[in-house]
Amino acid sequence: MKILLVGSGGREHALALGLHADSACTELHAAPGNPGIADVATLHPLAITDNDAIAALAQSLAVDLVVIGPEVPLVNGAADAVRAIGIPVFGPSKAAAQLEGSKDFAKGVMRDAGVPTAHSYTCSTEAEIVKALDEFGAPYVVKDDGLAAGKGVVVTNDREVALNHALACDRVVIEEYLDGPEISLFGISDGRNILAMEPAQDFKRAFDGDQGPNTGGMGAYSPLPWAPENIVEETYEKVLAPMIAEMAARGTPFVGLLYAGLALTKNGIKVIEFNARFGDPETQVLIPRLQTPLATLLYKAATDNLDDEVLNWSDESAVTVVVAAEGYPESPKVGALINLPTCMDTTFYHAGVSHTKDGLVTSGGRVLTVTGLGRNLREAREKVYGTLPLILCENSFYRSDIALAASEGK
Ligand code: AMP
Ligand code: GLY
Repeated sequence: MKILLVGSGGREHALALGLHADSACTELHAAPGNPGIADVATLHPLAITDNDAIAALAQSLAVDLVVIGPEVPLVNGAADAVRAIGIPVFGPSKAAAQLEGSKDFAKGVMRDAGVPTAHSYTCSTEAEIVKALDEFGAPYVVKDDGLAAGKGVVVTNDREVALNHALACDRVVIEEYLDGPEISLFGISDGRNILAMEPAQDFKRAFDGDQGPNTGGMGAYSPLPWAPENIVEETYEKVLAPMIAEMAARGTPFVGLLYAGLALTKNGIKVIEFNARFGDPETQVLIPRLQTPLATLLYKAATDNLDDEVLNWSDESAVTVVVAAEGYPESPKVGALINLPTCMDTTFYHAGVSHTKDGLVTSGGRVLTVTGLGRNLREAREKVYGTLPLILCENSFYRSDIALAASEGK
């Protein structure tokens, strides 16, 4: 099977290694890819916002499957462009990707599917905004309706800050604050069936102790020793399966990865958000633990064939830590040389990394993720945190507390 993978982040690097490890994958292409992905795939230049270019590349390579990693091309309809030329795609249509592209749309589907989530109002005028803020009270949760590259959500006790963020959005979802630990739980769907993956936890704030600005994610771990034992079954029954059934009933089946961000509240699980693609950096802990051959799995999902499929997982624990460029997320300082140790114990997933004549240099806010596997979280952490000081990269930083509490049984 020939596969084209679209994207260039740490998530795509993890997917590339997973696809490459499946013997069914005989040829792997990536566009635009990154220097790490280049070890296992042939890279092709590509503007991922150009649907026709994605379809044309898939056609010229005569691939059997296209896997689309990031949300922007999915929300733009890249999967539709590839399906239109008869090539199977792992990734939702433009209509189905609205689950990530519009918070208001996701709320409507959840309502129709009976999926538990925060009460909310979608507002377009100042009067509606003020009414919603005052009804829910602090902490205020204000979400830009559309894609906002991780900057759309403000959670604050400051009414002024909440109001100003809301007024700066064209359309805004204001909702009830959900109290409780957050987890990420993904499902792989062929449009009718959905296979729940194991849960992971992501660390969104930039600095130790959950301080600093919100980011795309500074680290993750899986499994979650503290989570309720039936969390996967419960999420399947209350969230994943009803969403897939509702999307199919609307005539816009969701084919791809449905990312449920959940709050475990005292009133049960509630959906915080959906994404229409693998999470980053959660993928960098899930793919190393997934034993089901990935290329075959994603091909079956893309061709409506998951009826008899099951997911198998390694018993090992995985921890991943993001190395970010100083100034991330606001204004990352890039262009620093990166020197990676030769290390058998951990895996480096490249993200904001470019190849130059001088070697590897930083080219984005999230530079790389380092994953360690161990018999438990403590061992996985030891491997990652043993490796991180050996990475030579000026003007970079990482959190020192990823999976710390969970590894201590908290
Ligand atoms: P999102 O961009 O939707 O992932 O939201 C960013 C972060 O805001 C989430 O990871 C949560 O930590 C927080 N958040 C979003 N919605 C809520 C909510 N209703 N209650 C509490 N925190 C929230
Ligand atoms: N880790 C959060 C995300 O992928 O959206």
